[in-house]
Amino acid sequence: MDNYKLLKINQSIKSHRIKFLGLWLLSVLNKRYIAIHMDPVLACNLRCKMCYFTDDEFVRKTMKGMFKQEDLEPIANAAFKNALKLQIGCGAEPTLFKHNVQLIELAKQHGIPYISMVTNGNLLNDEDVAAFANAGLNEIIMSLHGVYKESYEDLMDKGNYEKFHAVLKAITEQKKHTPNLRLRINYTFNKDNFYELADFFKVYGDYAIDIIQLRPIDKIGETTYNDFSLKSIENDYPEVLKTMKQGAAERNIMLLSPESVIRNEEESLKVKTSNDSSFIKPFTYFYISPKYSWKDDYDWRTETLGQWQKRTGWNMQLLRNAFRSRKSLEDVNRNMLNYSVDIN
Ligand SMILES: C[S@@+](CC[C@H](N)C(=O)[O-])C[C@H]1O[C@@H](n2cnc3c(N)ncnc32)[C@H](O)[C@@H]1O
Ligand code: SF4
Repeated sequence: MDNYKLLKINQSIKSHRIKFLGLWLLSVLNKRYIAIHMDPVLACNLRCKMCYFTDDEFVRKTMKGMFKQEDLEPIANAAFKNALKLQIGCGAEPTLFKHNVQLIELAKQHGIPYISMVTNGNLLNDEDVAAFANAGLNEIIMSLHGVYKESYEDLMDKGNYEKFHAVLKAITEQKKHTPNLRLRINYTFNKDNFYELADFFKVYGDYAIDIIQLRPIDKIGETTYNDFSLKSIENDYPEVLKTMKQGAAERNIMLLSPESVIRNEEESLKVKTSNDSSFIKPFTYFYISPKYSWKDDYDWRTETLGQWQKRTGWNMQLLRNAFRSRKSLEDVNRNMLNYSVDIN
């Protein structure tokens, strides 16, 4: 089933008890219920000013490592059977990894229904796009931090605006041959690149975009750009959103965006979306990188996910959660997911 439909279904089920009973059943039957978010390499070619890649010390200490080609098969054997989705790229740049075609092929062979890649796109060429699509990639998410060249190259330091457009053109062409490939744009906005969105479709209207996500800036680390306040654009947000909604509707584009950017900045810099309430996320979000995978006591080299579930009494925990209060589940949520960038 389509990944976005699944997200919608998940959001429409309000009862965490029903969600956990469903998860428990899928897990007991050894079916698909996890979303794998994979960083095949912990490095990036850009230094976007809103991203922790501008924190030299963090990069030196944390952003190291790359999977070997021979790691891919054991990883696939360990976890792909249970995956509803594979997200290639999460907190770093996946196109620095040279074996993405093989990774996509493996995901396909193991029947993962939705395979997506999130990238700055700057290292891709027409051949890469064709190879990914032919291997079975369902979605390329191209990250964008400025509508115009000036803002793009300022906020996405080391990025090349013309290259970005060339890749959008290549994807648009490729989609004619492999219509299953979707193009999504992730536009991360702050108070300085927000108003440009009014011209988004003047600049990008001819590309075959399927989905646009508007992402309010979030504090994801110590970053060069560090004005996280959206107070000054709060009142103008609905008008710009309306323009985006109109442009998207005219082109049959799915727009993912918060309805408002009003947030209590004393309490949290995260804009609340309906996704925030997802209690099941810590139980379905499978992060894997050369440094970490899934849970502290899990190693894909020695155990499949199914074996780990048996060893740790995982199914019982899922069942118990169906009978726990929301409050106690919120505490679990707070302690998790601080390792990653949430793409959805
Ligand atoms: C950290 S990047 C890693 C993947 C890849 N390098 C890319 O940029 O697409 C994941 C997503 O986070 C977005 N992002 C970067 N800085 C952000 C911030 N401060 N707040 C919210 N999203 C951010 C990026 O634009 C991208 O869509
Ligand atoms: S947002 Fe993506 S492309 Fe930009 S620096 Fe961070 S990891 Fe690299």
